[in-house]
Amino acid sequence: MPRAAAVCPVVEKGNPQMFQPARYSRRDFLGRVGLGFGALMLGGQQLSPPLTRAADIPSAGPMLAPAATSDPDLDIALEAIETQAQVLPGTPTRVWSYRGRVLRGDPASLQELPGSYLGPVIRARRGQRLRVTFTNRLAQESIIHWHGLVVPPEMDGHPGLAVAGGDSYTYEFTIVNRAGTYWFHPHPHGHTGQQVYFGLAGLLLITDDEEGAAGLPTGEYDIPLVIQDRTFDADNQLVYLPNGMTDQLMGFLGERILVNGKADQTLTVARQAYRLRLLNGSNGRIYKLGWNDGTPLVVIGTDGGLLRQAVQRDYVMLSPGERVDLWADFSDRPVGSEMVLRNRAFAGFESTHMMGSRPTLPEGSDYDILRVRVERPGNNVLRLPSRLSSFDDLRLEDAVNSRSPRTFTIAMQHMAWTINGRQFEMDGVAPDEVVKAGTVEVWEFVNQPGQMGMMGQMDQSSGGHGAGHGGGSGQDSGMPTMTEEMAHPMHIHGVQFQVLDRQVRSEMRAGWETVSAGLVDEGWKDTVLMMPGERVRLLVKLPEHTGLYLYHCHNLEHEDGGLMRNFKVMA
Ligand code: C2O
Ligand code: CU
Ligand code: CU
Repeated sequence: MPRAAAVCPVVEKGNPQMFQPARYSRRDFLGRVGLGFGALMLGGQQLSPPLTRAADIPSAGPMLAPAATSDPDLDIALEAIETQAQVLPGTPTRVWSYRGRVLRGDPASLQELPGSYLGPVIRARRGQRLRVTFTNRLAQESIIHWHGLVVPPEMDGHPGLAVAGGDSYTYEFTIVNRAGTYWFHPHPHGHTGQQVYFGLAGLLLITDDEEGAAGLPTGEYDIPLVIQDRTFDADNQLVYLPNGMTDQLMGFLGERILVNGKADQTLTVARQAYRLRLLNGSNGRIYKLGWNDGTPLVVIGTDGGLLRQAVQRDYVMLSPGERVDLWADFSDRPVGSEMVLRNRAFAGFESTHMMGSRPTLPEGSDYDILRVRVERPGNNVLRLPSRLSSFDDLRLEDAVNSRSPRTFTIAMQHMAWTINGRQFEMDGVAPDEVVKAGTVEVWEFVNQPGQMGMMGQMDQSSGGHGAGHGGGSGQDSGMPTMTEEMAHPMHIHGVQFQVLDRQVRSEMRAGWETVSAGLVDEGWKDTVLMMPGERVRLLVKLPEHTGLYLYHCHNLEHEDGGLMRNFKVMA
């Protein structure tokens, strides 16, 4: 792949010292199998790109250079750039952002979220051939992953495919997924959390004939809502991992909630039905979403598209990476009335608040997410369809391993998150991570509770975190004992799966019951929330394509810390 115009203005400004240097070349990076936790102690980072000029980073070029073959239906150029966005009143915030251009195909396939740092919304149809040329204008390596899409491994954004600043990577694939709310984000190893945090994420909305026939709200009545939490310094700049090692181990929790990249937004609606597409694009925060007045949520879709029929929930859990499509009917609400989408209290994470610092906005507390104001009369009357879609469930008896589930146990070992005792290795695959293409398997994720030792030691080795890193204050108080009662949103690349069942250890049942009524397991999923002490069994239809795919925790700090592995699809 040719190096693009080597130096762009974006990578020349900024303050080089402030940033975590990516000094190694991509080749070294590929050689660094098993990058341990030690390499990831970033301390409090502030966004001051770049670390190095793009031209200083040696480039090995992409691992695979797919040939540009057919004429795509939709051909898009996407760049990751540094820019500014008006997130809060006052000084604009320095962010990273995807900027897109349609080279071929319907210009309406790319839509901006006005004024937002979030990437363009890509709209495409099932069956279309999509080409995306990604150019990395950052001064650190990156690669795009299409979250939820079933694509060949070389199109999936494996960290081994990451390209250096100035370089490009071309994707080309046919969209085979059902209509639904998908998204894209960076996936370089060790820097996914940082890059998503500073703004790199976009939605990919797929339509198909079945969805078109369902009679759902479209156009301005079909609204994407990306929920993220962020922490800002006094100058409105983003602060990442202000509590150093604690944030890295537990997952980042921001102090403010942003929706579509904006703080304190009010969504104004007409008196009619809407489709609200919610994505939890946060790094580590889990939401328990509910309307302030107790109105139930009407769920019409999950990660992998529409449910067969709508289900009602008093609240819905949404963990990082998950999506939920809601039917929200405001037709019987008076003009001028307001509703608030709130986070409701939930338990099961007490231990996460025992570490040195207390988050300003603790996970599982009560807070507002989005205010909705009914502002005008509606234009049309839409009724909730009784049938939304049809599909056959995967069945346990279809699984090639129905009697011996493939078990992946998530546990903390020596201050690092592990899967079956292992951490991420760039091209490492263990014998229990080899599967056969196109088969159905039972996968079982187990969230193993245990004692997290060596806190004192950890605190010393994490060195200079604390004061001076911006945003954090009052940390380092007291020496915590912490159990690893953490939830893990587990995500599998290259597939959509179904949840077969869940079990929870009796001593953790009380916490689990504060969220369990909000788990929507009726449809297709690619990310599943696994609470402390929980065991989740999935029926997974494995990819037809052979090669390496990833499975990992979508708490991005956990992912960057090694809670990720390859699985290998064999013919
Ligand atoms: Cu959305 Cu591998 O992640
Ligand atoms: Cu993914
Ligand atoms: Cu996790």
